[in-house]
Amino acid sequence: MPTLERTEALSTLKGVPLFAGLTPQQLRRVAEVGRLKLFRAGAAIVRLGEPGDTFYVILDGHALVVREAGRPLKLHPGDFFGELALIENAPRSADVIATDDVTALTVGHTAFRKLLRSEAAFTHAILKTVVGRMRNDQRAPRWELDNLMR
Ligand code: CMP
Repeated sequence: MPTLERTEALSTLKGVPLFAGLTPQQLRRVAEVGRLKLFRAGAAIVRLGEPGDTFYVILDGHALVVREAGRPLKLHPGDFFGELALIENAPRSADVIATDDVTALTVGHTAFRKLLRSEAAFTHAILKTVVGRMRNDQRAPRWELDNLMR
């Protein structure tokens, strides 16, 4: 797995909303610990129920989060996944499938936990997205209920 080349890394990572609040020094740390990985269209990047030791940020391509219940969710460049298993120390909560060729920045669990502990802006960005996803999940059934009541 190639390490991110420094110059390429910094310009790519600067454009990722998750990293928007990081200082140049913090960004350099992410680039140092991150690895680029390519997944072919159709590949299962993570599988429901399996142990997880990697966090992913999509740099190019798209993926689907396929859960046991609920609609599949589409992930776009700049979106991340795989944080839940690392935060909870639990099996993967969903399948994540590449719908076209995906280039992802991957961060191992030790480096991910270090980032969470040491970079407040990173932790806040993760939290904000996870909470937003939770709100979104809760919104869906209510939206359906409102439609049925009409
Ligand atoms: P993890 O459980 O490690 O692996 C599957 C990933 O799918 C999970 O982390 C999240 O990144 C993502 N995921 C699971 N459930 C949802 C959801 N409800 N909304 C958005 N993403 C999700």
